[in-house]
Amino acid sequence: MVFSGIQPSGRLHIGNYVGAMKNMIALQDEYFCIYGIVDYHAMTVRFDPKEMEMSIFSAAVDYIAAGIDPEKSVLMLQSTVSEHTELAWILNTITPISWLSRVPTFKEKSKENPDYVHMGLFDYPALMAADIILYKAHVVPVGDDQVAHLELTREIVRRFNSYFGQTFPEPEAKLGEISRILGLDGVNKMSKSLGNCIYLDETKEEIWKKLSTAVTDTNRKKRNDPGNPDICNIFTMHKAFSKQEDIEHCAHGCRTAGIGCLDCKKILLDNMYKELEPIQNKQKELRNKKDYIYEVLRDGKKRAKQIAQKTMDEVYEKIGIDSYHK
Ligand code: TRP
Repeated sequence: MVFSGIQPSGRLHIGNYVGAMKNMIALQDEYFCIYGIVDYHAMTVRFDPKEMEMSIFSAAVDYIAAGIDPEKSVLMLQSTVSEHTELAWILNTITPISWLSRVPTFKEKSKENPDYVHMGLFDYPALMAADIILYKAHVVPVGDDQVAHLELTREIVRRFNSYFGQTFPEPEAKLGEISRILGLDGVNKMSKSLGNCIYLDETKEEIWKKLSTAVTDTNRKKRNDPGNPDICNIFTMHKAFSKQEDIEHCAHGCRTAGIGCLDCKKILLDNMYKELEPIQNKQKELRNKKDYIYEVLRDGKKRAKQIAQKTMDEVYEKIGIDSYHK
């Protein structure tokens, strides 16, 4: 079983796509996958209720357009299966405060918004653990920023199993082959808040505007200087989007100053856009199919709920309250 959570938090960038989404899509052929749009997690930052419905809708559209197939996998909305928060409560009672305060995301977010530090932000990883183990998932495709959360999930699982008896498997993170694409600045991770992203829904022209000025190997100052692809973020993007032949051509051309950075970027642009164009077409089509998207999530709720209820029945039994739940 595979589970992963999708934040309904606006436009997706190629870092999201390469880091986690591609794996989420690929795993569908091998496993039964449940993908949850995690609206409760999205509520751990300041949000506008007027925008919530649309954000969830867009997340569903984007993921289906990219290749999550509702015929193969379950696509559901976290808050529609109340077992997520119910299990999270039980996990709360066995998760030491000291474990949660170690999590880097909490430290970062509280620093970013010092006047918006609340229990939900602190407890975010316990709800995430509940999301995963509610379906007894073994594999969790995520970006590398989620590894610390997965480690905590494993600790919580070990504690649950040791207190109440073997119940849950320890899930493992499955990282993308290229787990980290830097932003256009070539220094920081690609991130919406830093404004250094290429978004999945940008036109070829828009992408070229960004790529053409993106930072490469900073030691390569002139066209005739040889460069080092291993430290060039554009080359990392090639590895994510180009075929072997182009990757080799660019690496060799860079090392020998046979091609310039712009030549290399043009090849990348073509390859990247070839992959993004069909996704963009599908996005446009799905945005007009409101009924279909709602139906997918309703169906996802039904299918997820069946599994979730079974797990909760087992949990009630393990913690000694099952006779009241029959
Ligand atoms: N924390 C994840 C993120 O920020 C989202 C998430 C919530 C998740 N629950 C999950 C990911 C369960 C994997 C499994 O992207």
